[in-house]
Amino acid sequence: MKTKKFYIETYGCQMNEADSELVAGFLLKKSYQPTNSPEDADIILVNTCSVRENAERRAIARLSQFKNLKKVNPDLLIGILGCVAQRDKEEILRKNPFIDIALGPDSYRKLPEAIDSISLPLTGFQLSRKEVYDGLSPFRSSRVNAWISIMRGCDKFCAYCIVPFTRGRERSRSLSSIVEEVKQAVADGYSEVTLLGQNVNSYVYEAFRFPDLLEAVSAVAGLKRIRYTSPHPQDFDDRLLEVMRDHPNICRHIHLPLQAGSTRVLELMKRNYDQARYLSVVENIRRHMPDCAITTDIIVGFPQETEADFLETLRVMDAVIFDAAYNFKYSPRPGTLAARMIDDVTPEEKSDRLDRVIEKQKRHMLLRNRALVGTIQELLVDSVSRKNPNEKTGRTGTNKIVIIQKGNPEISDVVRVRIEKAIGISLFGTLV
Ligand code: SAH
Ligand code: SF4
Ligand code: F3S
Repeated sequence: MKTKKFYIETYGCQMNEADSELVAGFLLKKSYQPTNSPEDADIILVNTCSVRENAERRAIARLSQFKNLKKVNPDLLIGILGCVAQRDKEEILRKNPFIDIALGPDSYRKLPEAIDSISLPLTGFQLSRKEVYDGLSPFRSSRVNAWISIMRGCDKFCAYCIVPFTRGRERSRSLSSIVEEVKQAVADGYSEVTLLGQNVNSYVYEAFRFPDLLEAVSAVAGLKRIRYTSPHPQDFDDRLLEVMRDHPNICRHIHLPLQAGSTRVLELMKRNYDQARYLSVVENIRRHMPDCAITTDIIVGFPQETEADFLETLRVMDAVIFDAAYNFKYSPRPGTLAARMIDDVTPEEKSDRLDRVIEKQKRHMLLRNRALVGTIQELLVDSVSRKNPNEKTGRTGTNKIVIIQKGNPEISDVVRVRIEKAIGISLFGTLV
């Protein structure tokens, strides 16, 4: 019998990347083989994101493209996974009858059933208070970094955010199962792990909190780098910073989502911190680790954000000088608190504010990058350069991508480079 093949496409956050690897692990166990071309696949899965309207639209458009492949291969199964499936539930099948499988984030264990095609369509939208997908064998797509999901769900209910609705209640994996997975990843040749959760510093398992987990992971022999994302500014404490400071294999990078600079807007967003608190966390980070990179997420044009509020966001940017920022225009999500607020910010104002944030961030990134020119940095080599296949790229502990222009190390090598120049958003270096 011909081996069956699966193709998975993933949108959204790293949690979705990690989930896709779990699903790939299930399929491999069913003797399916991965393929990079949807045309060759017997099952196509799109793992979707619902965080902004355009993310959702992109995923649905992609699924519609795959529909045409059913003309060539009538046995092809098409499935939607992830946050759009969870949000739309049965509705998604009504609107797109060519979809055979629709599973929300807590229902992936049902997938092996679908493969045996007991009955189609196969659906699963039950959110769980317990499911953490312990003890499974994800099929990892990177050779360098292993995603390790340490918790699922989110209980913060920020006013704009769909995640608590699509991912359900917060729950943490046991410390021992996480450490086991990290050990296995190291045994499989991974030098770096990234601990994932919507809110990693609310991690709690028995008496263990997130700093305890970091310490335990840091002690795994042979592990060169530990990253984590994302912490919430409200739950940030000194203990976490002390653990980072005292363990050199925990990377000097913190992604600290700001969302907005104005205390009034932060309150409307239900973020549970104000501008002063955010800036004091930044100060505290720098006091413990002066060389720590700080990156962020910013939303512009939240309902009722005035020009004066927006200027506070720019003010915080100037005070912090972020190493990188992901900037978004507010997008109303059905069912959230903010979707019921009166949004008096015009589309033009939203676009204008986004442009100004991007412009400022570009300058700040260049400033931060230029400060590295002439220094020696340690890189973990992780990719072949997209622009020039003869060049490799690697990341610093501070998560900056450096293009290696002289010297040709192997993927997953740890090397030292001299940073030669910073142009635009790129850094260039030579092997020393
Ligand atoms: N759990 C993480 C981030 C989750 S979503 C945290 O708390 O920071 C990733 C980012 O998408 C968010 O940080 C936010 O900046 C952005 N985002 C979420 N909902 C959004 C919305 N409705 N419109 C625009 N951006 C949004
Ligand atoms: Fe969304 Fe807020 Fe939870 Fe982050 S903390 S996932 S922004 S609700
Ligand atoms: Fe998107 Fe779901 Fe992640 S909405 S950001 S894929 S948790």
